[in-house]
Amino acid sequence: MSTDQIRLIQLPKILDERGNLSFFENEQQVPFKIARLYWIYDVPGGEIRGGHAYKTLRELIIALSGSFDVVLDDGKKKQTFSLNRSYVGLYVPQGVWRHMENFSTNSLALIAADQPYSEGDYIRDYEEFISSKK
Ligand code: TYD
Repeated sequence: MSTDQIRLIQLPKILDERGNLSFFENEQQVPFKIARLYWIYDVPGGEIRGGHAYKTLRELIIALSGSFDVVLDDGKKKQTFSLNRSYVGLYVPQGVWRHMENFSTNSLALIAADQPYSEGDYIRDYEEFISSKK
C-alpha cells in the first residue's frame, strides 16, 4: 500500500489482565521515521485545532485518551475520522488540509511527525492550499 494514502493503522494491542499495552516503532507500524512527538490536551469544549496543511510533513494522529474528530481535505473531498481508540492511528500524508474538532473532556491527542517543527512547511491559507493542488 502506498505510504501516501490516508488510512487508519491498527497498532499492536497486548491484552493483559494487568492492563493493555500498545506501541509503535519507526518504520514498522509508523510508515516513516519519527522526528518529533507532540500532544494536544486541555482543549476547551468547542475549540478547533489545526486548520492547515503541511507541504511535506507526514504524521500519525492517535487519540491516546478520550475522543476527537480529524477532518481531512485533499482538495477534492473531505473525510472525517472519529478517533477514540488508543490503538488506532490515523496516517496523514503531506499536502492534506486538516483540522481537529469535537474534543471530549480530558482527551489527549498524540501526533508523531516525520520532521522537526518548521513553520515554513505549513500552509495556513486555505486558498493557497487549493492553488497548490492545481
Ligand atoms: P500549530 O501547529 O499552529 O497548532 P494548531 O495546528 O493546533 O493550531 O502550533 C501552535 C503553536 O505551537 C505555534 O506557535 C507553533 C508552536 N509549535 C511548536 O513550537 N512546536 C511544535 O512541534 C508544534 C506542533 C507547534
